[in-house]
Amino acid sequence: MKIKWIGHSALLLEGSRKVLIDPFLSGNPAATVSLEDITECDVVVVTHDHGDHIGDSFEICKKTGAIFVSLNEISELAAKEGLTAELMNVGGTIENNGVKVSMVPALHTADLGGTAVGVVVELDGISVYHAGDTGLSMEMVLIGEMYKPDIAFLPIDGRFTMTPRLAAKAVELLKVPKVVPIHFNTFPAIKSSPEEFKSLVKGDYEVIIMKPGDSLEL
Ligand code: NI
Ligand code: MN
Repeated sequence: MKIKWIGHSALLLEGSRKVLIDPFLSGNPAATVSLEDITECDVVVVTHDHGDHIGDSFEICKKTGAIFVSLNEISELAAKEGLTAELMNVGGTIENNGVKVSMVPALHTADLGGTAVGVVVELDGISVYHAGDTGLSMEMVLIGEMYKPDIAFLPIDGRFTMTPRLAAKAVELLKVPKVVPIHFNTFPAIKSSPEEFKSLVKGDYEVIIMKPGDSLEL
């Protein structure tokens, strides 16, 4: 599977299916892909309804016919807009179109549903944990134990989500072999240092510092 960090929190997973997570493209100064560039997508997963996460998801589903997957309150809104939507909540796992999505806790607010969530997306036997926006939480021990992600994408901006120091502790709790810091430097208010994060991660974990637009293969 190929994983592209589009920028900010937006990921594109490409394998036997194409999956977008938190596709905030329009108005995202870090985005390396525009809404016009997206012509095919099977599943769109959204962690919460803050604008820098729900982003262009409805438009993408409308133009590609992708299935919308999110917390039930957000998916209900998507369904009202005429999209094909999967409703779910924390603790659940759904499988649709060859893509498995598990919803896990996050410590962060949201408007619809009141809370943000994280997701573990499994495609072609590879499991990707996208933490969404979150603070540090002991839930990460269980996320690591129960879903055994192959890679984690963690926010490190230090204002709305974890500081590099807390994100480094999250890696220890998750015991995930590979980790990529995201959700930093998109705007002046969320300046952070992926190098500091990397230097603080203790143990046998691979920290991969990507630039928006970079891809990795798993
Ligand atoms: Ni948020
Ligand atoms: Mn955010």
